[in-house]
Amino acid sequence: MVFKIALHLLLVLLPFIFVPFNSNNSCSNYLSYLFISFSSDCYHNPDVNDNITNIIQRHTNSLETHQVQTEDGYILNLFRIRRENPRGVIFFQHGVIDDARCWVNQYNDSVAFLFWRAGYDVWLGNNRGNLYAKKHVTWKPSDGEFWNFSLLEVGYYDLDASVEYIKTTTSEGKIIYVGLSMGATTGLIYASMRPAKSFESLQIMISIAPCTHFMYATDSIVKYIAPLSDIMQRYNKYTGIYSFARNDGLPLKFFRLFHQFFPFKKYLVYLLSVCFGWTPDEMDPNYANLMVSHYGSETSIKIIVHFYQMYCQHRFQAYDYGEVKNMEVYGSKRPFLFPLKKIKLPVYMVYSDSDIFSYYKDNEVVYNDLPEEVTMYGKLVVKGLNHVDYLYGKHRNQRLFNKILRLLDSL
Ligand SMILES: *[C@@H]1O[C@H](CO)[C@@H](O)[C@H](O)[C@H]1NC(C)=O
Ligand SMILES: *[C@@H]1O[C@H](CO)[C@@H](O)[C@H](O)[C@H]1NC(C)=O
Ligand SMILES: *[C@@H]1O[C@H](CO)[C@@H](O)[C@H](O)[C@H]1NC(C)=O
Ligand SMILES: *[C@@H]1O[C@H](CO)[C@@H](O)[C@H](O)[C@H]1NC(C)=O
Repeated sequence: MVFKIALHLLLVLLPFIFVPFNSNNSCSNYLSYLFISFSSDCYHNPDVNDNITNIIQRHTNSLETHQVQTEDGYILNLFRIRRENPRGVIFFQHGVIDDARCWVNQYNDSVAFLFWRAGYDVWLGNNRGNLYAKKHVTWKPSDGEFWNFSLLEVGYYDLDASVEYIKTTTSEGKIIYVGLSMGATTGLIYASMRPAKSFESLQIMISIAPCTHFMYATDSIVKYIAPLSDIMQRYNKYTGIYSFARNDGLPLKFFRLFHQFFPFKKYLVYLLSVCFGWTPDEMDPNYANLMVSHYGSETSIKIIVHFYQMYCQHRFQAYDYGEVKNMEVYGSKRPFLFPLKKIKLPVYMVYSDSDIFSYYKDNEVVYNDLPEEVTMYGKLVVKGLNHVDYLYGKHRNQRLFNKILRLLDSL
C-alpha cells in the first residue's frame, strides 16, 4: 500500500524533477520544456513575470503612461508607445478578464510593437476594474458599487473617455480602433450608442472576433462554461464578492506558479483548443509561459453575467435586471438591443473559421446587420486560428495583423 502511494506520488512529481528552478523559462518547442535545463532551444525570457512598463521600455524605449477619467468617475491608465510624425494613431482594446498586457505579451514580436515599428503611435487601453484601472473618484475596489458595471458602461464611458483623450493629446486627427473579443464587443456598443461622436473621432474600427448574441455558438464549449456564470452570480449574492479573477488572489497566483514549472505545456494547448477551437499546432511554444504569467485581470461579475444573458437569450442587448427593474432602468420590460444600424463609422470585421467562441456564423449575422456604407472595406475571414491564436498563434501576423497593416496603408 505504502509502496503504491509512493509510486503514484513519484509519477506525479517526476515531471518537476526534470524542471529544476533555473532561469530558463521559454523554449521554441513543447518537448524541450520537459528538459528545460538541457535543451539548447530553451532560454531566459525577461518578459515572463515582468510588468508592462518594463516590457514596453525593454523593447521600444518609448513609453508614456497617461490617466483618463471617465464621465462616471473611473480613472483608467493608458499606455502609449510614442512615435513622432506617425503614420497614424492606433488604439488597442483588450478582451475579457484581461488588460493592456495582452498586446505586449509576445516578446519582441508583440502586436503592439509590430504596429509601432510600422510607424504608428500606439495606445493601449484598459477597462475599468482591471489591474491598471482600479481607481474611482468616490469608490474603492472594496465597495460593491465600484463593480456595478456591465459591457454597456465599458463601451459607453471607458471607450469614449479614452478615445477623446487620445484624440486631444495627439492632435493627429481621427484614430484607428482595434478591439479584440470583448474589446470588439464594447467597440460595437460604443459605436452604436454614440454614433455621431465615434464617427467624428475614429477613422475605422477593426473588430476582431466580437462576442455578441451567441446564436450559433450553442454547439460549442460555451454551452458548458456559460452556466457557471449563473453559479457565480448566486455565490456573489451570498458572499458579497462582486469581481472575478482578483489579481492578488491565490487561485491565479497558484495557477501561474504551477504552470511555470509544469513541463507538459502541450496540455495547456489541448485545453485551450477544446475551449476555443481545435488548433493544437497553432499556438507558439515560445509564448506558453509568457501568456500564463500575464493573463488574468479583474473584472466585474456583472460583465460575466451579462455575457451569459446574451448567450441565453441570443440577443446583443443591455444587461437584464428582470422585468420590473428593467422598466425602471430602460423603460421597457426587456433590455434594449444595441442599435447596430445606427453605426456611422467604417467597421472592418475580422473573425476566424476555427474560433468556436466568437463563432463565424454569429459574426456573419452581425456583419449583415451593419449598415451597408459601414462595411465599405468588407471583412476578413481568417483561416485556422482559434480565439487565443489571434494573439499567440504562429500564423497570426501572416494571416491577420500583416493584412490589417496593409489595409491601413491603403486607407
Ligand atoms: C538555459 O539554456 C541554455 C541553452 O539555451 C543553457 O546553455 C543554459 O545553461 C540554461 N540555463 C540554465 C540556468 O539552466
Ligand atoms: C514595474 O516595475 C518597475 C520596477 O522594476 C516600477 O518602477 C514600475 O512602476 C512598475 N510598473 C507598474 C505598471 O507597476
Ligand atoms: C526577436 O528576437 C529573436 C532572438 O533574439 C530574433 O531572432 C528575432 O528576429 C526577433 N524578432 C523581431 C521581430 O525582432
Ligand atoms: C447598479 O447600477 C444600476 C444602473 O445603473 C442601478 O439601477 C442599480 O441600483 C445599481 N446597483 C447597485 C447595487 O448600486
